[in-house]
Amino acid sequence: MGGFVITGVPDRQTKFEGKITFYLVICAVIAATGGLMFGYDIGISGGVTSMDSFLLKFFPSVYYKKKRAKEDNYCKYDDHKLQLFTSSLYLAALVSCFFASAMCRRFGRKLTIQISSVFFFIGVILNVRANDLHMLIAGRILLGIGVGFANQAVPLFLSEIAPFHIRGGLNILFQLNITIGILVANVVNYYASKSLLYGWKFSLGLAGVPALILCIGSFLITETPTSLIQHGRSADGLEVLKKIRGTHNVEAEFQEILQASEAASLVERPFMSIFHRSSFPQLVIGSLLQFFQQFTGINAIMFYAPVLFEAIGFKSHASLLSAVAIGTVNLIGSVVSLLAVDKVGRKLLLLEGCLQMFLSMAAIGAVLVANGQQNQPLDNDSAMGVVMFAALFVSGFAWSWGPLAWLIPSEIFPLETRTAGYAVAVSSNMLFTFVIAQIYLSMLCRMRAGVFFFFSMWIAIMGIFVAVFLPETKNIPMDEMVARVWKKHWYWKRYMDDGTRSLKMEALYDAYSY
Ligand code: BGC
Repeated sequence: MGGFVITGVPDRQTKFEGKITFYLVICAVIAATGGLMFGYDIGISGGVTSMDSFLLKFFPSVYYKKKRAKEDNYCKYDDHKLQLFTSSLYLAALVSCFFASAMCRRFGRKLTIQISSVFFFIGVILNVRANDLHMLIAGRILLGIGVGFANQAVPLFLSEIAPFHIRGGLNILFQLNITIGILVANVVNYYASKSLLYGWKFSLGLAGVPALILCIGSFLITETPTSLIQHGRSADGLEVLKKIRGTHNVEAEFQEILQASEAASLVERPFMSIFHRSSFPQLVIGSLLQFFQQFTGINAIMFYAPVLFEAIGFKSHASLLSAVAIGTVNLIGSVVSLLAVDKVGRKLLLLEGCLQMFLSMAAIGAVLVANGQQNQPLDNDSAMGVVMFAALFVSGFAWSWGPLAWLIPSEIFPLETRTAGYAVAVSSNMLFTFVIAQIYLSMLCRMRAGVFFFFSMWIAIMGIFVAVFLPETKNIPMDEMVARVWKKHWYWKRYMDDGTRSLKMEALYDAYSY
């Protein structure tokens, strides 16, 4: 298998040899398409819920409210059932990722990925054939289960197959696919909204494509070496490791996974052990990053970009077009992150993202406040200003909190609590995504422009948290995090030596210390 040797981390390179092989890239690219399903869903909801044909069929009261001439712009979509359409998916994903975590641990990452695509596909069929709101929501729930399974297994899979010095970049392929999914969905909405009768069916139905790609592609990917070794298939694990690293010299890495797996096997109930004191730092950071990611306000823009742009006076098609522009910026931003993350590190990207998002969110609020009246469209300059600041905001998010909130929790847990800990992080993401999806339109209606200042405030808080409490994890092999990151961090180290780990496990982890 062809490949080239990575340089740039000389001290570790001598211990862990590895090339970027063709097989590694194929596995990563295929698995990352799990992000397409999630992204397509995020992007499609806002567009579909602003299509008249969809509203007339499932939410007639919203349709008539929207048509009323002097309706308040900020409030015309404020309807709990409509919000439930968007948010039901996240509720299902929230619960399902715990099952996915058990599945990842027992049956491996690959099967969990395959199952995600099956659930998702059945959900799409229900949605397309929906005759009433119940069927529509049932479809959304199945999509949510698919998303929960994929979001649990894919980032873990990517982090586990990656050589440590490109782990960030490889993991960000997941976010890149999310952004591609969102962008494709925006384009689809734009065209589908022109076809009066079946626009929404077309939009919802195309979600089946990423599920099919993932399902078929998943037969070509490997199980991760970590998962194989954890399941007692060490010989297979070693072979896969040689294949994805493109070298026979993988002994050091193999031994490290073997030891981590031995430590992990001492833990019978991983869900209990994540509540031990020694898991507290990873748990707090894993969950808080998700909370913060959602309280940047990103989904106020993503789900509701078309609705938001319509609310400030763009015509329906112009608003979808602006959403496409935002989607493109989002995609480009995640490419930047993919290239930068293993060079500049996680913290710097997060901090820069905070600064940029803080300023642009506050600027959107300021433009809306300056325009006062709720029933009037914004003048051209102000409307363009809002789109521009939204694009600036999204680019800041796309190279920081977007990808890193998925990457960091997937790499900070030791193997014994990795799937359980990551499930807590994924479910927190889904919970807060649900909360934002459920309350945002009501917040917009009640707080009006103030909602943007509300998000700016949270962005400032998360910046401070990152600066003070987040350790840098760039270029650290996953199975060395405890020894090299947590036990050395000025604050979190106090949680690391509380005696809740067994002596044998401690000895194993201390063996990595140097
Ligand atoms: C977030 C989503 C968000 C998307 C935007 C993801 O990382 O989890 O909630 O809509 O990024 O690109």
